[in-house]
Amino acid sequence: MKNLLVAYYSQTGQLKEIVTHFVKQWSEFYTIDFTEIKSDQYHFPMTYKQFFDVFPETVLKQPCKIHFEIEKEDYDTVILGFQPWFLYPSRPFNSFLQSEALKKAIRNKPVILVIDARNSWRNSLNEVIIEIEKHGGIIKGIFVFREISKNRTGFISLCYWLFTGKKKSPFKLLPAAGISQEIIDKADIYGVEALKALTEPERIYTVIPPVNKEFTSIGYERYAVNKYLEWAEYISKNNYKHRRSKLLFFRIWILITLFVLSPLIAKKNRKTN
Ligand SMILES: Cc1cc2nc3c(=O)[nH]c(=O)nc-3n(C[C@H](O)[C@H](O)[C@H](O)COP(=O)(O)O)c2cc1C
Repeated sequence: MKNLLVAYYSQTGQLKEIVTHFVKQWSEFYTIDFTEIKSDQYHFPMTYKQFFDVFPETVLKQPCKIHFEIEKEDYDTVILGFQPWFLYPSRPFNSFLQSEALKKAIRNKPVILVIDARNSWRNSLNEVIIEIEKHGGIIKGIFVFREISKNRTGFISLCYWLFTGKKKSPFKLLPAAGISQEIIDKADIYGVEALKALTEPERIYTVIPPVNKEFTSIGYERYAVNKYLEWAEYISKNNYKHRRSKLLFFRIWILITLFVLSPLIAKKNRKTN
């Protein structure tokens, strides 16, 4: 039997459920060790203030204290599970990415990436790919589990879930947050694809459920990635002096951007494509 390491961070437990289903059929060929990355700093449910408070350190990729245990010295294959926070890899996962233990585990080893996201994962994925390849990992497959709600209503549903712990809101107009249970339960189908990917020469990239047209516009995502970096640098200036008021300005800006600017940028992007 070969050895598989599945390392992931999951604030809500959703990604934990996804990776558990994902590797169900791997147990025929692999001994599977799960490593959950834990952080005492980030809770679920979280408050509105805590949600925005993660922003500057996440975007600036400043590591936080995490706990994890990797059982074996050496693995044949590594599966990594992560999620975007403000378009960047979540802070606990990014801290793991910077650890010596992770660098050692992935060196010259095939790596499969499993992501759960609301709708905008591309930048966080690029950041993770760069780090993994820098440390000698060979990415064979990328599997993105995403939501299907619209950009703005989806954001409200996500907030409702994160702040109350409930995926389904009592308001009929608000779609349920997160990945649908049906897709989570069938994640092993994609796990089998990942097993096959290990023997393929080309890396495979699967988005679940599939998207025919751009879900969030690339134009808007690019705009937001650059602006987020500028905001994070501004908030962190002079050792985070006036952090609370700067975060308040950021909150106002992000809500205006999401509800007013994003539809305009997406429209402009559709016209130019
Ligand atoms: C602070 C914060 C920021 C988030 N930012 C994004 C984002 O930029 N893009 C996105 O698709 N999802 C975003 N999400 C949703 C998460 O990526 C993820 O899907 C959700 O939190 C599921 O939790 P889990 O993966 O920790 O189990 C964010 C969540 C949090 C808590």
